[in-house]
Amino acid sequence: MGAAHARALVSHGAKVVIGDVLDETGQALADELGAEAEYIHLDVTNERDWARAVELAVSRFGGLSVLVNNAGIVNLGAIGEYSRDQWDLIVAINLTGPFLGITAARDALVASAPSSIVNISSIAGMMGTPNQHGYTASKFGVRGLTKSVGGELAPFNVRVNSVHPGVIKTQMTANLDLEDMLGPLGRAAEPEEVANLVVFLASDESSYSTASEFVVDGGTLGAFTAVDEV
Ligand SMILES: NC(=O)c1ccc[n+]([C@@H]2O[C@H](COP(=O)([O-])OP(=O)(O)OC[C@H]3O[C@@H](n4cnc5c(N)ncnc54)[C@H](O)[C@@H]3O)[C@@H](O)[C@H]2O)c1
Repeated sequence: MGAAHARALVSHGAKVVIGDVLDETGQALADELGAEAEYIHLDVTNERDWARAVELAVSRFGGLSVLVNNAGIVNLGAIGEYSRDQWDLIVAINLTGPFLGITAARDALVASAPSSIVNISSIAGMMGTPNQHGYTASKFGVRGLTKSVGGELAPFNVRVNSVHPGVIKTQMTANLDLEDMLGPLGRAAEPEEVANLVVFLASDESSYSTASEFVVDGGTLGAFTAVDEV
């Protein structure tokens, strides 16, 4: 999904720094996007990587006005089988990652205000799912962090919102049987359908929205049971 966000932001005139731990894939995307994009190795659990990524955005493009916290993993297990290691790993990437990103980017975002932070949560940040304990907790955490930071940075004209996708066709869902997970619209979404929302939240078009949740889930949260009842 991050690649779709980068492409959409560039197509709307942004310059982007792309960070990932998959250096070849990330560099290939930056090459595709040309002069408007730079790739940097960024493990979101690493504070030094974050500092370098922010520094690159400021030195290469003259400032930083948008941060999209997109990196995430999923792991599964029933209580009793789901391990402490699984929990620690998912919380580190999905929740501590955005916290470290926001911490590293704060001053640059304030300096470039009006600015926007877009935190990619999930519908798992709105409801519980069996066997998804770490994922659910981390995505609720992202939603909460969005609100505390949103209130704190509002006086600096830095807006902070969370995005809550449903089932999106990416590597993360490539090996899952999606049929049982689909909402009323009856299909999984393309990453671009989330990217459109990210562009809106990144831009001044969403100038009055902060500390809020934005759902893009084909109706799952709003009317999930309706599918079976029709
Ligand atoms: N695909 C879905 O249906 C769906 C639904 C709701 C929310 N989301 C969320 O959207 C975001 C993107 O998910 P996706 O579906 O594109 O997943 P994906 O697995 O296709 O991509 C995730 C990306 O995060 C990167 N990543 C993993 N650990 C990292 C780390 N420590 N540092 C930096 N990068 C790291 C991976 O290398 C990969 O490029 C995630 O936060 C995910 O939880 C996905």
